[in-house]
Amino acid sequence: MRARIAVLASGGGSNLQAILDHLAALGERRAGDVVLVASDRPAARALDRARARGIATAVIRTSAHPEGTPIGTVLRDARVDYVVLAGYLRLVPADVVRAYAGRMVNVHPALLPAFGGPGMYGHHVHEAVIAAHVRESGATVHFVDEEFDQGAIIAQWAVPVSAGDSADTLADRVLRVEHALYPRVVQALASGTLHPGQPARVGRAAPLHLADLDDRRLAEDIEHALGF
Ligand code: GRF
Repeated sequence: MRARIAVLASGGGSNLQAILDHLAALGERRAGDVVLVASDRPAARALDRARARGIATAVIRTSAHPEGTPIGTVLRDARVDYVVLAGYLRLVPADVVRAYAGRMVNVHPALLPAFGGPGMYGHHVHEAVIAAHVRESGATVHFVDEEFDQGAIIAQWAVPVSAGDSADTLADRVLRVEHALYPRVVQALASGTLHPGQPARVGRAAPLHLADLDDRRLAEDIEHALGF
């Protein structure tokens, strides 16, 4: 039986789209199905992407949206096995994190533990990376625990930071990596082969410029290097 996956997203949902496309491309080999997309923002584009695929959606209750459903109820009612955070900007309540320990993952657009924690999301991350003059950034997929960006790291993939980078160009480069890396981790997770406590898998992208960052090559590199 295939695993039931929920994706939580607050924004555009490009990672959600990459996951849906990857699982669809795997066809009968996919280990899970996205059965629910939930958001704290009723207008999130991620919800439109889900509806376009006929996937159930839910709005999560927050102070701004008291009409929503508590996150624990949303996940329980959908009988999900795994929870995938894809651009979800809120801290998941501790009781919900505990209920899905080892079964909830997040993607972060930097090489954790650097450039993570409260306030480190979206362009703030990339601006901090550029201001720090570090030579590499990247994407990190990690298990979710009760602190922002602190759970055990599953996989990382580095990209170079170029001298002329803006937050936008760096975000684009990292997002390309996220789109290749995260769906493969989700497939591995849904196969039941990933557990907290395993050593993280770390890879490096060789291309220096966005134009060179060929998606197919990148996906092949990640599959080869990380075994996903
Ligand atoms: C990604 O950069 C992800 O790492 C971060 O939020 C962004 C979400 O983008 N957590 P999208 O909504 O998947 O397009």
